[in-house]
Amino acid sequence: MNLPQTLGEFIVENQKDFPYASGELSQLLSSLRIAAKVVNREINKAGLADILGIAGAENVQGEAQMKLDVFANDVFIKALKARGEVCGVASEENEDYIAFRDPIHSTSKYVVLIDPLDGSSNVDVNVSVGTIFSIYRRLSEPGTPVQLEDFLQPGNLQVAAGYIVYGSSTMLVYTTGRGVNGFTYDPSIGSFYLSHPEMQFPRSGKIYSINEGNYVHFPDGVKKYIKYCQELDPATSRPYSSRYIGSLVSDFHRNMLKGGIYIYPKGTTSPNGKLRLLYECNPLAFIAEQAGGKATNGFDRILDIQPNALHQRVPFFIGSVEMVEKAEEFMAQFG
Ligand code: AHG
Ligand code: MN
Ligand code: MN
Repeated sequence: MNLPQTLGEFIVENQKDFPYASGELSQLLSSLRIAAKVVNREINKAGLADILGIAGAENVQGEAQMKLDVFANDVFIKALKARGEVCGVASEENEDYIAFRDPIHSTSKYVVLIDPLDGSSNVDVNVSVGTIFSIYRRLSEPGTPVQLEDFLQPGNLQVAAGYIVYGSSTMLVYTTGRGVNGFTYDPSIGSFYLSHPEMQFPRSGKIYSINEGNYVHFPDGVKKYIKYCQELDPATSRPYSSRYIGSLVSDFHRNMLKGGIYIYPKGTTSPNGKLRLLYECNPLAFIAEQAGGKATNGFDRILDIQPNALHQRVPFFIGSVEMVEKAEEFMAQFG
């Protein structure tokens, strides 16, 4: 039998490519891998356990928190805190960042930003959800308490980023800035196996993903781009297909495999759109670029935006490079 490489083996082997690596990033990725398995186990039995429904609390954006949001948040934070590589975590589910202050964290180099459960409203209808993570080196001195500035770094300083998609299979996809690799989970063995080496966004595609129910609120550039996608033009394979799951991770994952564009623009009621720069847009933008795709706010590169708040939102255009550039042309012309 020809067994593919496990994620654990891949992480260790890849570490050799970083000549001065101390193994801390590898350890950190392993903590995330273990937490992903625990969350995966709970999501898989969500329909059975008494875990569905609203937890009764709202997160900082005033959205209802599902029980699994709370659970996933807890699992990832505990997994990171249990080891000494990370000095603090910022999560979509917590108003402020969490500083780790145990002695094992006194010299930790890294901070993690996380959307522990993405697309959580899809859990109770048995549709794919995800987790998104982003890793930076801290800017403040190790040994001092972690600062807000450690979390407000532009995406171009990310050391690693990834996501887990809990779909018909569970996959972990990540980058350390040297391409993107995807690993599929075998639950009977409890291991992730390298199934999608060196993932690449097709340069163009035939899928556009946007919540068209909000059409009336969209900027003119987006309205015109949607009409462009719907026009008949066999030479460019139009009209494109419309696909929108409502779980960003799942929509992004499909588009990276098949070619497509995902847009969450600003609307009249949401001046910066809905998606969060630090927990959703930056990590997926890093992955997209590493896979030959593109991510902008309609005008500028996502990874170059200087964040000014933990829960900042930005309009988001991400996907196959030719499709994003076409959408940008409409934005430049019509706004
Ligand atoms: P989260 O569950 O982390 O709050 O994220 C939900 C996000 C994203 O996953 C999805 O693409 C988008 O919200 C869907 O929003 P709409 O329902 O407004 O289309
Ligand atoms: Mn999300
Ligand atoms: Mn979430």
